Amino acid sequence: MAVRTIREERDEILKKISRPIETIDEKIQILIDDMIETMHKFNGVGLAAVQVGVLKRVVVIHIDYEKEKPLILINPEIKKQKGEQIVDEGCLSFPNKFAKVVRPEEVTVEAMNREGKLIKVTGKGLLAQAISHEIDHLNGEVFVEKMLPGTLEYSTPEQ
Ligand code: NI
Repeated sequence: MAVRTIREERDEILKKISRPIETIDEKIQILIDDMIETMHKFNGVGLAAVQVGVLKRVVVIHIDYEKEKPLILINPEIKKQKGEQIVDEGCLSFPNKFAKVVRPEEVTVEAMNREGKLIKVTGKGLLAQAISHEIDHLNGEVFVEKMLPGTLEYSTPEQ
């Protein structure tokens, strides 16, 4: 496993549409492991492959590091969305930038897991937010384009 370089805001790749994965081969397994390691290294709750420079439709999400395993979604498709929540949001590709965005309160997604099995996941709250945010990445969309006007904040780096 290896920590990969995260593509940041001015990188044009973030605006590109990722392609579906046809075969979950060894290369994809390594990509998934590396994405999880990279997300953990930077304390993120989610990461899309495009953020490490790979235009493939795979995301990893990990909300509670201690109680859950990372969720891996290959070729995810949102099947249902319910409600709305206004949330504070950030992104590993936009270090130190935060803003408020509107996300669905509940999201149901269908995807393949890393074994190629079809799974269906319904998430609320932060999980719904993360699923929505990461699937946006696969479609070349980033959160700063959705932020509510006047809500952008810059955090000072820690330490
Ligand atoms: Ni992001």
